[in-house]
Parts: sequence; C-alpha cells; structure tokens
Amino acid sequence: MSTHSEKNKILLGVTGSIAAYKAAELARRYMKRGYQVKAVFSEGAEQFIAPLTFQAITGNPVLSSWDQEHTQGIGHIEYADWADLVVIAPATADILAKYAAGMADNPLLAVLLATQARILVAPAMNVNMFHHPATVTNLQILRERGVRFVEPGEGPLACGWRGRGRMAEPWDIFYHTLRAFGDDSLQRKRVLVVTGPTREAIDAVRFLSNRSSGKMGVALAREAFRRGAEVEVIAGPVRTKLPSGVKLSSVTSAEEMRQAVLARTFPQHGEPPDIVIMAAAVSDVRPKSVVKEKLKKGDLPKALPLERNPDILAELGEMREKAGTSTKLVGFAVESGEIEDLIAAVQQKLSEKKVDMIVGNLAEDSLELDTNRVWMVDKHGRETEVATSFKSRIAEKILQHVRKL
Ligand SMILES: Cc1cc2nc3c(=O)[nH]c(=O)nc-3n(C[C@H](O)[C@H](O)[C@H](O)COP(=O)(O)O)c2cc1C
Repeated sequence: MSTHSEKNKILLGVTGSIAAYKAAELARRYMKRGYQVKAVFSEGAEQFIAPLTFQAITGNPVLSSWDQEHTQGIGHIEYADWADLVVIAPATADILAKYAAGMADNPLLAVLLATQARILVAPAMNVNMFHHPATVTNLQILRERGVRFVEPGEGPLACGWRGRGRMAEPWDIFYHTLRAFGDDSLQRKRVLVVTGPTREAIDAVRFLSNRSSGKMGVALAREAFRRGAEVEVIAGPVRTKLPSGVKLSSVTSAEEMRQAVLARTFPQHGEPPDIVIMAAAVSDVRPKSVVKEKLKKGDLPKALPLERNPDILAELGEMREKAGTSTKLVGFAVESGEIEDLIAAVQQKLSEKKVDMIVGNLAEDSLELDTNRVWMVDKHGRETEVATSFKSRIAEKILQHVRKL
C-alpha cells in the first residue's frame, strides 16, 4: 500500500443492484479526479452491468470471476493488496450479509477479507430490505469493524416503494471517498460553518439582501468534512450541495441566523463546537417595519427607514469571553476597493470582535465566484495571504491556519 499522501488507488466493488449503472458514473468521477481505479464484481453484478463498461472507463481489467486471465498471481489477493481504498457501490443486502458473515465465495468477498485498505460502502436496496433486522444487524457488525458507510437516501425507489434505500448519489459517494482518503486532521472535532446572505423582509414579496452565494462557506464545510470533522452548516437562502452526514439548518433573516448560531455555539445540552466559522454575509440593516401583505406599487414608501441588525460575530466573541469556553471563532471581512483598506479592516475587526482569526476578501474577488483570494490574520499576529485559487483550495488553506490557532 502507498503512504498517506500518495494514496490514490480505488478498488470499486460493484454488486447486483439496479443502482449498478450509477457506479459507472462514480468510476468516471474518480478517473477525472486523477485516481487509479480498478473494478471488482460480485456474482450478481454482471446481471446489471457489463464489466466492459468499467474496463473502458478505468483502463483496467475487471475482476469478475475466479479465472486468473488478467492477473499475474492470485487475482483477488493482487487486487486486495493494490487498493488504498475499497468502495462498494452499490452494496446489496446479500453482499452485506455475506461480508458480515466473513464469506468469500466470490472475488469481491475474497478481496474484502484479504485487503488491509479502508472500506467504504454505499448500500442500495428496497426500503423493507434496508430496515429488516438482519440487514440492520449486518450493518452494525460491519460498522463496529470499522467499515464506513454512505447512508442511502430517502425517496421513490426503483421497485415502486418509497423510503430509505436508494443508493447515495455518485457526487455524495465521491465526497465520502475524499473523507476516507483524508488526513483525519479534524477527526472528532465539531465544526460549525455559517454561510450565505440573509434576507430582510420589506413586505410579503420584497426583501433587502446582498450578492453572497454561500460558496466559500460550502467549500469550508466540505473541507472540514474531508478532514474528518463532524460538520454542521447554518445557511441563509442559497443553494447548498453538501455531503450527506453534514447537518444543514436553513435560515432567512439575520435575527433567525443569530438565534440559530447562538443556540449551536452555546448549547444548553451537549458539547459546543470546537470551531465556528462565520462566513455569512449578514445584512447590516433591516427595514424598521415589515408589511405582511404585498405593498401595491402606489403604496410603496418614498424612503425605507432602516435599523441595524445584530452583529453576530461580535456577540459570539463577547459571549465566549463570559462563558469561558474554548471554541475557536473565525470571522470573515469583505471590502471593496484597495487591498490596503481591506487589510486595515481585517486588523480592526480582529481587535474589536474578540475572535481568533479574520479572513479578509475583496468583493470583486469573491462574491458569486468559484474562486477567491484572501488575507488571514490571527490573534497571534500571524498573517497569511492566499493568491487567487478555487474556493476549495482557499478552504484548505483556511483550515490549515485554523488548526494552528
Ligand atoms: C431487478 C432486480 C433488482 C435488484 N436490486 C437490488 C438492490 O437494489 N439491492 C439488493 O440488495 N438486491 C437487489 N436485487 C437482488 C439481488 O440482485 C440478489 O440478492 C443477488 O443475489 C445479489 O447478488 P450479489 O450480492 O452477488 O451482487 C435485485 C434483483 C433484481 C432482479
């Protein structure tokens, strides 16, 4: 097997489920990311998809029977030793039962017993099969042995039933794969990311808001997830595509966001987060009064009286000081114009808000974009600049810095 940083060999186990066609898309995603991929089939898999599909996508022969046609030595041992990670997607009830029982009557099962690699499993089956006590027990046994799972989704199933059992989508399995390959540097850490704009209602249909897309916060949540953290996101009204396992709470106004953030950061019961990252663009102001119905065009006021919204980050800093908790607080600052003005604003925000670090970015570099460039300043006076890169890369750098706090 490879050392941690070189790990890139995925053995994709495919089994006899109607979801087998999605495994081909998953293999494509892995290839695009630069992973090396080989596929291994269970007994039932070939009824659903041809090995040739995976051979063509991965450029490697598929281990689908005991014949040793494509291997130098003993096929299943060769494949088991080659893998840095084994992903079974989809995993049938049958394969889970046989794996839990330690059976090895097909090449995939033999690989699973022989490999030293991490195992990630994406179950797919009818809702009643998934909730059957036998399956529940098998999943529990495998979990206790350290097997990782991508939970199936809920909704209409190919068999006509509705409920939990539909295999997780390939993009979701992909994020769980990144986590399985990740460095676990935030394992057992609870990370709360707050992202997106807020909307401040004027009447039933109109609101004040800003151009924040929430992409930076989503990238931070994904990166924390990749590093093994338990991640929760509080998001204003934005589209978020987060891996399953990341808890999402949606809010609309600044006041709703404030209440959600304070409740999670200083919980009455349970553990507070280890890290809170306020990447949200909270509206500074809101209309003084809100009209319940839609205002007719002729009734629109000539001027809109405004009042200030709460400063959530400052409140977090104050409350942490009073509570004496050790949660790390990271805030964002956005400015338009010159870099010097941004850096000055970052320094000022850091000293005023009693937080551990401020990440500064310019509106023109960040809002609505997939890229960003940032200046980070922490309470120890350390400054780091990250040149323009994808937000996923910026998120990596930010979390690297947060770990040093
Ligand atoms: C059309 C069809 C769809 C099936 N889909 C699933 C499924 O999604 N999940 C599952 O556990 N079994 C499913 N089965 C049953 C499995 O194919 C069967 O248990 C088989 O023995 C599994 O073999 P394997 O575990 O070696 O792949 C399906 C069967 C048929 C005929």
